[in-house]
Amino acid sequence: MNRATLGKKIDKKTIDELKNDTNVLLSFLENQNDGTIIYTLEKLGKLDNDNSRNPLLNLLENPNEKIRSLSIKNLAKIGDIKLLDIFVKHASKDESTDVRRESVSAIGRLRKPEIIPTLCNFLKDNDPKVVMQAIRGLLVFSSKKEIKDELKKLINHPNEVIQEVISKELNGSKYSSKSSQKHDESPIYMQNTVVGADVQETMKYVPNESIHLTFTSPPYYNARDYSIYQSYEEYLNFLEEVFKEVHRITKEGRFFILNTSPVIVPRISRAHSSKRYPIPYDIHPLLIKMGWEFIDDIVWVKPEASVKNRNGGFLQHRKPLGYKPNAITECLMVYRKKTDKLIDWNMKQYSWEKVKNSKVEEKYETTNVWQIDPTFDKVHSAVFPIELCDRVIKYYSFINDLVFDPFAGSGTLGKSALKLKRNFFLTEKEDKYIDRMKQDLLKNSDLFDLQKQQVNFVDLNTFISLSNTI
Ligand SMILES: C[S@@+](CC[C@H](N)C(=O)[O-])C[C@H]1O[C@@H](n2cnc3c(N)ncnc32)[C@H](O)[C@@H]1O
Repeated sequence: MNRATLGKKIDKKTIDELKNDTNVLLSFLENQNDGTIIYTLEKLGKLDNDNSRNPLLNLLENPNEKIRSLSIKNLAKIGDIKLLDIFVKHASKDESTDVRRESVSAIGRLRKPEIIPTLCNFLKDNDPKVVMQAIRGLLVFSSKKEIKDELKKLINHPNEVIQEVISKELNGSKYSSKSSQKHDESPIYMQNTVVGADVQETMKYVPNESIHLTFTSPPYYNARDYSIYQSYEEYLNFLEEVFKEVHRITKEGRFFILNTSPVIVPRISRAHSSKRYPIPYDIHPLLIKMGWEFIDDIVWVKPEASVKNRNGGFLQHRKPLGYKPNAITECLMVYRKKTDKLIDWNMKQYSWEKVKNSKVEEKYETTNVWQIDPTFDKVHSAVFPIELCDRVIKYYSFINDLVFDPFAGSGTLGKSALKLKRNFFLTEKEDKYIDRMKQDLLKNSDLFDLQKQQVNFVDLNTFISLSNTI
């Protein structure tokens, strides 16, 4: 029976009748299959009286771990310290880690000082989920010195999440801002500015924590004409240095979205093979090390007809090992500048009005698969489709924020930013692309209100002198 049918059979009235009469609940549970028992246990809701205790205790030896776990969860709602021994037994001996975790959670929910020694014991458990539940239960008593001392012992726990929780609880926020600017503001001289220069040179003159969002697609390793690196290692080192600086100039807890995909460098002759470089996978560990926190991976899917066909050979010979799929996806890796503050904190840095005006009210993409046609440009060989920039800007920034593309190319991010009432900051080292950007960012004066949004194209020296004026 599926859940919708179950929902009709076991409605709220039936649940109330069951949980208010021990014998009715007992005989009901005895005659049901696992699916129905699980559904009923999930829907029991508040347990104000003791009538469910025995039927739930009966289920603790059920072979189905989900049933045992839900029974413990419901018994915890009764809140009776007499159940402590039962919870301890299942927390220590149950073969299912889920039941053990639920049992430690049940102990914590008793919230009586008698549970403290038991929870302290579970701090030594070798399952981090069990330890986390014990910590949670003990935090209720964290004003007591002996509890603080117990928790302090976990500061070097091998599990990274436990370390972070303990550090935050005991030491408060570790992040110390290096900016005097308010979170929702940005340096005026950077707003709607394109610097025609090398990104590394330019970023030296950007103050700490100036940027709200970075979205970029870096040069492809030797796969297109505009970038030549001596080796893959040199290429990765270059990106690492750039993204370290992007990290420095990004505001606390804000996002960095990196668009890359594995690239193929063609073979030099039929006697050699081509080489594929897994760029996103190689950059990822470098980003984590420098302080970006991985949040999401979005897959940008293009129509098959828009990509280079690699199927020709296999289509003919059909021999295993010679299979070459057409690469129709690119990655959008979403990172956040690591902080112990929640995203809620970032949202609270904006006025009610700004939040309201930034809301994504229209239809939005609900999955991490974004189907967007690529854009082809006469001047630049790898431009972002504007739809891609629009989504990133709308989902990851607020109105008036400063969004950055260190490898701006034709400046699509800037166009989208102007349209969506954000400010942009772009760097691009090639003059021909700067000229391409000028056509776009300056021409659409009917689309963008240039009275309000003045766009500045500057060289490095001008940018340096602007940065000196603040
Ligand atoms: C993949 S393209 C970006 C295209 C862009 N997303 C768009 O919508 O047009 C990468 C760009 O980075 C630029 N670039 C490469 N190295 C650079 C550097 N050191 N400083 C600034 N720009 C650089 C290249 O000239 C190229 O235009």
